[in-house]
Amino acid sequence: MKTNETYVGSIDQGTTGTRFMVFDHAGTVVANAYEKHEQIYPEPGWVEHDPLEIWENTQSVIESALAEAGIEADQLAALGVTNQRETTLLWDAETGKPVHNAIVWQDRRTTDRIERLEEDGKADAVRAKTGLQPDAYFAATKAEWLLDNAEPIKTQRARPADLRDRAETGEILFGTIDSWLIYNLTGEHITDVTNASRTMLFDIHEMDWDGGLCEEFRVPREMLPEVRPSSDDETYGSTDPEGFLGAEIPVAGALGDQQAALFGQTCFDAGDAKNTYGTGSFFLLNTGNEAVESEHGLLTTVGFQRSGEPVQYALEGSIFVTGAAIEWLVDMDLIDDAAKTENLARSVDSTDGVYMVPAFTGLGAPHWNQRARGTLVGMTRGTRKEHVVRATLESIAYQTRDVAEAMEADSGIEVESLRVDGGAVKNNFLCQLQSDILGTDIVRPVVDETTALGSAYAAGLAVGYWETVDELRNNWQVDREFEVNMASDEADEKYGRWQDAVERSLDWASE
Ligand code: G3P
Repeated sequence: MKTNETYVGSIDQGTTGTRFMVFDHAGTVVANAYEKHEQIYPEPGWVEHDPLEIWENTQSVIESALAEAGIEADQLAALGVTNQRETTLLWDAETGKPVHNAIVWQDRRTTDRIERLEEDGKADAVRAKTGLQPDAYFAATKAEWLLDNAEPIKTQRARPADLRDRAETGEILFGTIDSWLIYNLTGEHITDVTNASRTMLFDIHEMDWDGGLCEEFRVPREMLPEVRPSSDDETYGSTDPEGFLGAEIPVAGALGDQQAALFGQTCFDAGDAKNTYGTGSFFLLNTGNEAVESEHGLLTTVGFQRSGEPVQYALEGSIFVTGAAIEWLVDMDLIDDAAKTENLARSVDSTDGVYMVPAFTGLGAPHWNQRARGTLVGMTRGTRKEHVVRATLESIAYQTRDVAEAMEADSGIEVESLRVDGGAVKNNFLCQLQSDILGTDIVRPVVDETTALGSAYAAGLAVGYWETVDELRNNWQVDREFEVNMASDEADEKYGRWQDAVERSLDWASE
């Protein structure tokens, strides 16, 4: 056992699984455990998770990470939470049980509802308040759907029609995954400013729930959590010493996973940017205390907030499918392991003209087309799986360029060096390709799980484990830098063909 030392723990509840990491003062990983959970697809385009499975996995990864590293729970100075954003659930305040599976951010079941909002000419007003491009991606229409359709489970006295009534009295609670975990850890119904900013019910200028939006989406105000800073000196509450951890640990930091990665990459100042490669990819640029409105298809979102400090905003390019496209190759039995993509892609000189647009759940930024679908174009009889694998990796780099160009146009800031993180950045081929296609240096830090690190930092700062953000900046270390190695003409030509392929994918939407 590592005696006397203290650490900060971070729960990273992502789309495909749950991770618990423990960090020391230098920001070094001292414990790490991960568990996948089931992806439930009740109908085409629908994606659900079981919130009870997520909570069980959360407890089990915490227990196994601590046991493997020989750390006692009371050596944790604080806990941070970070999470897949927008994924929405409702639960019964009395029993603590969810009334339905969580509707995942990727779920498209409320596409028609968003189209109605647009037809009614309400999209601009929603965008102005929330900074979001109205889309089924966000929590508001998912909560509305649940209130209209969820079948209460077993012992509950309410009939479906009663859910909204019960929500009005606070008997049914709304939450994104951060709230669900904080509720289970501390008993408090709380969310942080970053997660609130992804609901489409939150005014990012007033920094409060918006009555008009609650009315529009028929989500009672009474069921919404209290909104708190991402790093909260008051803490959100503590774990129950009689509970699974057997210790009273303050839960003091929470951020949506993409904002957590921004924080973990120490992008604390305006102009700092990062791109995280997970299920999707999310490119965030810190814009300081100014909420910059996008004219090029990006989102304006809350970056983070520390207690007693003003909010820092960010521009975000949300790409729905990047790592998930690699998983799709595995699901299709084209490859048996994502790690093999690097060698397969390197084994051919090019894709031989093949382009893959992984618009499996529509296209996010900068296109925002809910009905676009995946496209594979340019194949010949000579096309091999190596070409398709390479085209899939290239699609990640091209989609990032799509949002990087929008970012530059909106902010006037040319990102000269981009910090990257997430599972896929272990792939050196992808990092080099990204640098070449963007014409920008790519910097990979030693800790590539910066999402978990970011929420640990937020929690640790709140309880004084770390005193200043400069300590965190000093912790940040480069693992490898990738410099541009492709002529810009060549990159532009390839990118031009990519844009043609995207048009095909969008065309499909109009059929
Ligand atoms: O907005 C969705 C995003 O938060 C999901 O992130 O890492 O779970 O794919 P990830």
